[in-house]
Amino acid sequence: MTEDMGRERWSSTLGFIIASIGSAVGIGNIWRFPYIVGANGGGAFLIPYLISVFLFGLPLMLLEFTIGRSTKTSVITAFQSILGRSSLAGLAVVAIAGLVLSYYLVITSWVLAYALFFALNSPVDFHVFTGSYFPLIFFFFAGMAVFLTVRSGVREGIEMISRVLIPVLVVILIALVAFALTQTGAAAGIEFYLSPDYSKLTDPGVWTAAFGQAFFSLSVGMGVMLTYGSYLEGGALFRNASIIVVADMLIAILAGLAIFPLVFTAGLDPATGVNLTFITLPAVFVDMRFGMILGALFFAMLFAAALTSAVSMLEVPVAAMMDSRGYSRKRATLLVFGVIMLIGLPSALSYTALDLRLLGIRFLDLGDYLFGTIGLIVAGLIICIVGGWYMDRNRICDEIGGCGWQQKIYIVLIRYVVPAILLITLIANLFQVGG
Ligand code: PFF
Repeated sequence: MTEDMGRERWSSTLGFIIASIGSAVGIGNIWRFPYIVGANGGGAFLIPYLISVFLFGLPLMLLEFTIGRSTKTSVITAFQSILGRSSLAGLAVVAIAGLVLSYYLVITSWVLAYALFFALNSPVDFHVFTGSYFPLIFFFFAGMAVFLTVRSGVREGIEMISRVLIPVLVVILIALVAFALTQTGAAAGIEFYLSPDYSKLTDPGVWTAAFGQAFFSLSVGMGVMLTYGSYLEGGALFRNASIIVVADMLIAILAGLAIFPLVFTAGLDPATGVNLTFITLPAVFVDMRFGMILGALFFAMLFAAALTSAVSMLEVPVAAMMDSRGYSRKRATLLVFGVIMLIGLPSALSYTALDLRLLGIRFLDLGDYLFGTIGLIVAGLIICIVGGWYMDRNRICDEIGGCGWQQKIYIVLIRYVVPAILLITLIANLFQVGG
């Protein structure tokens, strides 16, 4: 089924690994992970998280790479090749990736705005900022950055930007951690962040939070890793996936080590939930020596993380259109990007003075729930079923280095365990609707 000789390729395995780390490391690592750890048992949360990452996230990532590399094509056509007929399954996964991007881009644009405000020495209050129509301008610029990257192609666009931004991100993060640990609130911050509360482990909500966070953070379940795998030639998939997973986790853990010491040094309450990034942290920076520089660095780092993740989400529908419809990259990117900006507009407007809501919930939050939480799980289930149950076993073994006992365990994981976990997480999340 190696249909096209002219398919784009990563320049090397390293390029592929960096681009995949670029997709995995995003807002989920720097903003969401530290907050979820703090709220769900501190250091004890690392137990369900590690289990989720290695037992469920890693196998799903490996499955996506396997499907992509063996079919050498993107989601819709890969599913066609496996199922032997066209189906709505691929389209559903592609649509969910696009829909998640539509609101992820809004948050990315806020991050861009904050980076600029701090760099210009003029931080703006979150409510003042979002209450204006300024966010729309940033929405446009953040969108353009994503659009231009994907339009430039796999190697010159996606790989290039990750090769530049990921090392920058790591350097900034390490510098921020080093600085944060010298501050007076470091001990209290780390105590809040990591001191384990094992009693939380009996709460099923903590476990489903860990599952959801692991899937989201690793960018699995949305066809991103499948698409990235389709541009890959050789290399040991398990080893590469392990590197990506470990890098993603380390960056998430480090982010907390930068954030909480600063929050405690400023004497602020860390339990402000998702407001941590846009309200609490800016307040920390405003009151701090070197605060403007720290703020600019922090938000620049967050923007680098968000941009490389947003790019990967756009690549899913773009590649799908190119492969299934024969569109050129330029045409596919323009079309898909146009649609996503339109769909994202209600989310972008939902925090402005217009305060756009549906069923009383802001569009952006509704998108995060419907697409980023429920949609992601559904798409993950689809990938597990198509790959685990319909793909030829030998084909899977070929890609992952034989059919020994390790591979047998892996197949049990993707056929039974991962779908079961996804189903449990889905049900748990559906019951939280009213909450
Ligand atoms: N992994 C990204 C993050 O942690 O922010 C978000 C993400 C990107 C999720 C791509 C899913 C995806 F397909």
